[in-house]
Amino acid sequence: MVCKFAVASSLLSLAFAAPSNKTCSTQLNVTSQTDLDTISGCEVFRNSIHIGGDAAVLTLNGVQNITGDIYIYNATELTSFAAPELQEIKGSLDLEIVEVLSTLSMPQLTDLGSIKLLTLPALEELQFNAGVRNAKDILISDTSLKSLDGLNLSQVETFDVNNNKNIKDISIDATSISQLLDISFNSENVNVSLPNLKWANNATFRYCASVLMPELQSVNQSLGFINNTFYNVSADNLESVGGTFILSSNRNLQKASFAKLSKVGGGFVIANNSQYSDVAGFSNLSSVGGAIDMVGNLTNASFPELNQVDGGVVVDSDNVFNCSVFDEAHENGDFHGDAYVCKGKSTTISTTLASATATHSASSSSDSHATTTTTHKSTESASGSASSSATSSKHSKNGAVANSAGLGLLGSLAALLFQFI
Ligand SMILES: *[C@@H]1O[C@H](CO)[C@@H](O)[C@H](O)[C@H]1NC(C)=O
Ligand SMILES: *[C@@H]1O[C@H](CO)[C@@H](O)[C@H](O)[C@H]1NC(C)=O
Ligand SMILES: *[C@@H]1O[C@H](CO)[C@@H](O)[C@H](O)[C@H]1NC(C)=O
Ligand SMILES: *[C@@H]1O[C@H](CO)[C@@H](O)[C@H](O)[C@H]1NC(C)=O
Ligand SMILES: *[C@@H]1O[C@H](CO)[C@@H](O)[C@H](O)[C@H]1NC(C)=O
Ligand SMILES: *[C@@H]1O[C@H](CO)[C@@H](O)[C@H](O)[C@H]1NC(C)=O
Ligand SMILES: *[C@@H]1O[C@H](CO)[C@@H](O)[C@H](O)[C@H]1NC(C)=O
Ligand SMILES: *[C@@H]1O[C@H](CO)[C@@H](O)[C@H](O)[C@H]1NC(C)=O
Ligand SMILES: *[C@@H]1O[C@H](CO)[C@@H](O)[C@H](O)[C@H]1NC(C)=O
Ligand SMILES: *[C@@H]1O[C@H](CO)[C@@H](O)[C@H](O)[C@H]1NC(C)=O
Ligand SMILES: *[C@@H]1O[C@H](CO)[C@@H](O)[C@H](O)[C@H]1NC(C)=O
Ligand SMILES: *[C@@H]1O[C@H](CO)[C@@H](O)[C@H](O)[C@H]1NC(C)=O
Repeated sequence: MVCKFAVASSLLSLAFAAPSNKTCSTQLNVTSQTDLDTISGCEVFRNSIHIGGDAAVLTLNGVQNITGDIYIYNATELTSFAAPELQEIKGSLDLEIVEVLSTLSMPQLTDLGSIKLLTLPALEELQFNAGVRNAKDILISDTSLKSLDGLNLSQVETFDVNNNKNIKDISIDATSISQLLDISFNSENVNVSLPNLKWANNATFRYCASVLMPELQSVNQSLGFINNTFYNVSADNLESVGGTFILSSNRNLQKASFAKLSKVGGGFVIANNSQYSDVAGFSNLSSVGGAIDMVGNLTNASFPELNQVDGGVVVDSDNVFNCSVFDEAHENGDFHGDAYVCKGKSTTISTTLASATATHSASSSSDSHATTTTTHKSTESASGSASSSATSSKHSKNGAVANSAGLGLLGSLAALLFQFI
């Protein structure tokens, strides 16, 4: 009787082993291999493992799945962490400040809640041989990773990869990135490839040598390319950006192509790209919900479909710039914001005066300081906040005095002159 009961009970405890086994469900704090070995009989570990201390090599044997996190913090001597049988971490794989870690081996890992790899200066590769297919949030910062091989993700919420100075290639299969996409301050030679990405919520790229997003169709909030080293940039299937579009301080940029982009909900900023003088490649852009702010070494701009800008329009070029495209749109009443300024090295104003008096001199501009001040204010508002510029008050559609709000005498004069040309 007693014996039978024992068998039955142990069968029962096998069937429901894990929940009733305290060893497999109590949070484990690890500073040595011995600590880790206490759970090697747990196929499923139903809690989190916290690792610190000064062990040099740690191996998590036996465990296939973890319902909580693996959190390794300030393990000062840890050079290698391996989990040969681990398939799933429901919580996060979180490694922070592990200065000498050079091996992170999880050959069977496929599913993760999130990954946080922060300050792992000796880590050069991820040995995720099976390929992690599911992970929602990825933060990888301040590592020596050369690539993200081992991550093969389909849907991602946040993807934030920054300050990895040795990374050559960032390639992610994801079709959507639903919260944040930010690739910044890595190696200036990094090539970024997002071959399957269809939509992103909010995307920012800095210091990239190339960015490929051939399938991208929409960005719900902002899309920014700032301070990259690429020579050209394109997203030829992109149709809309809900927030601000920014292309600024890309020192080598010569060519941009956003062939299908028709709607930008916030501001449209093209600033300080010193080699980018001919702003073409926006052949379908028809509406901008915020302000247009274009600053830099510009000679030409072409926006054949543009017919609605709800914020101000400021174009301020260091070069000789042809304002006619903007002047026409302005005259048509397409610009609904307070400010309209278009000036180049030899300003619109002096060009207008020159042609009016038929002298055709390209004499240096006499643009007032009032105009310059307005320009800088508008620059800030356009790049700072899309929504604030989008709410700027509307103006009458005749376009005659769209710029009375502080453009100064010359600006108003220019606007008046335009009426009669
Ligand atoms: C693990 O450490 C935390 C504090 O770091 C403590 O609250 C917890 O009780 C410890 N767990 C065990 C099982 O020792
Ligand atoms: C609980 O799990 C540990 C794993 O380390 C194992 O040694 C032990 O036999 C298990 N106990 C039961 C009752 O299953
Ligand atoms: C562990 O997780 C993997 C991947 O999610 C799953 O296929 C497997 O069934 C799980 N194993 C156990 C013992 O729960
Ligand atoms: C890391 O641990 C070492 C020694 O255990 C300690 O001196 C140091 O302050 C810790 N650093 C952090 C950032 O917690
Ligand atoms: C990534 O996963 C997809 C399936 O989601 C698969 O077709 C592809 O071969 C995988 N790529 C790599 C490099 O593992
Ligand atoms: C990035 O791609 C460019 C052009 O294909 C190549 O010249 C460069 O070496 C690549 N960068 C790295 C770090 O491999
Ligand atoms: C978009 O991402 C950038 C860079 O990560 C961030 O500064 C900005 O606040 C985000 N915008 C929104 C609306 O979330
Ligand atoms: C962002 O846009 C995508 C595709 O248009 C849409 O499916 C998604 O619901 C949007 N997300 C948010 C937060 O608006
Ligand atoms: C661009 O990067 C350089 C360093 O390479 C930095 O000094 C500068 O402030 C950055 N500019 C912007 C606009 O982020
Ligand atoms: C873009 O620039 C790269 C060099 O960075 C060059 O190899 C490529 O041909 C250029 N593509 C286009 C369309 O100009
Ligand atoms: C462009 O450069 C000017 C002068 O350096 C600076 O004031 C302005 O903030 C820059 N604009 C952007 C959007 O980077
Ligand atoms: C301005 O653009 C021209 C090309 O149109 C280029 O030759 C020149 O170097 C640029 N000037 C500056 C200051 O970058």
